Amino acid sequence: MKLVLAPMEGLTDPIMRDVLTHVGSFDWCVTEFIRVTDSVLPDHIYHSYCPELLNDGKTAAGTPVHVQFLGNNPTMLAANAVRAVELGAPAIDMNFGCPAKTVNRHRGGSVLLDEPETVYQLVKAVRDAVPAEIPVSAKMRLGYMDRNFTLENAHAIEDAGAAWVTVHARTKADGYTPPAFWDQLQPIRHALSINVIANGEIWNNQDARQCLLESGCEDLMIGRAAVTTPDVTQCIRQNKDEAILQWSDLITLQIRFLNGSYKKEMNMVGRYKQWLGMMSKHYPEAKLLWDEVKRLKQVDEIIAKLNHFQNIMPTV
Ligand SMILES: Cc1cc2nc3c(=O)[nH]c(=O)nc-3n(C[C@H](O)[C@H](O)[C@H](O)COP(=O)(O)O)c2cc1C
Repeated sequence: MKLVLAPMEGLTDPIMRDVLTHVGSFDWCVTEFIRVTDSVLPDHIYHSYCPELLNDGKTAAGTPVHVQFLGNNPTMLAANAVRAVELGAPAIDMNFGCPAKTVNRHRGGSVLLDEPETVYQLVKAVRDAVPAEIPVSAKMRLGYMDRNFTLENAHAIEDAGAAWVTVHARTKADGYTPPAFWDQLQPIRHALSINVIANGEIWNNQDARQCLLESGCEDLMIGRAAVTTPDVTQCIRQNKDEAILQWSDLITLQIRFLNGSYKKEMNMVGRYKQWLGMMSKHYPEAKLLWDEVKRLKQVDEIIAKLNHFQNIMPTV
């Protein structure tokens, strides 16, 4: 079974990818989307979205990082894909799932699912431009406002030469409201000969089993659950419902995260609190920690607090 870390803008940035691939068990990750309009982006933009390009396209743990693009200009998408590959990207992914209003207003992301022919042209332009050994994939939702073109889009992606397609099992109109319609992936899987990776609302091992069963897919992409419960991939691989990592392990991970700033201007305290807030949904210890750190403003203060917590906690 392949397990993929989902692209999540503002969440699975390089620091989070470093932390999650350090502890989790992912076959690959995908960058946050890189928006392409009318130019080839300068190298520093690539290195900012994907500093892993300087490490053979892999996180420090050795997990490959695929570069994701969003846009509607075939020539520019192709030219940027070529540049990303020259810089070391091991694979290119294309975003047809983003629901953001500003993105959709500029004909990017999920709105293109109403235009299967455009989806085909964009994937084909990129596929034709990058070397044959570099996989090109796409990520789609079931549709934009409805599911009228689900299969057309899936076929467009396959016919354009994509190596696989990842499907977030909801339309843009469904947003992020549960459930995800895993059973709706069955017809896609039957219609295509390329691999279909299932995505959406997989929060734990039980969800993963249920998704595999209902979708018939063999591979999964995990998004928010990987951030909320960093051992979710280990649980899925070992078919275990109980936690594998102790809270003390997770504190070590949080310290790694806070030490990981790769850009001076990064708001690491804000980012950390966002993550702790997400973990609070699952770990009672995170809730307690939240009360201790919520007023802290400096990374060093938080690290000191984490070290203190770790020292007073029994390690198993
Ligand atoms: C904060 C956030 C940002 C996201 N950014 C992207 C993105 O840049 N590219 C993309 O293809 N999907 C993006 N997604 C969608 C996720 O990759 C994934 O499809 C979605 O979260 C459903 O999976 P999950 O239920 O496992 O989280 C984003 C989702 C979230 C919550």
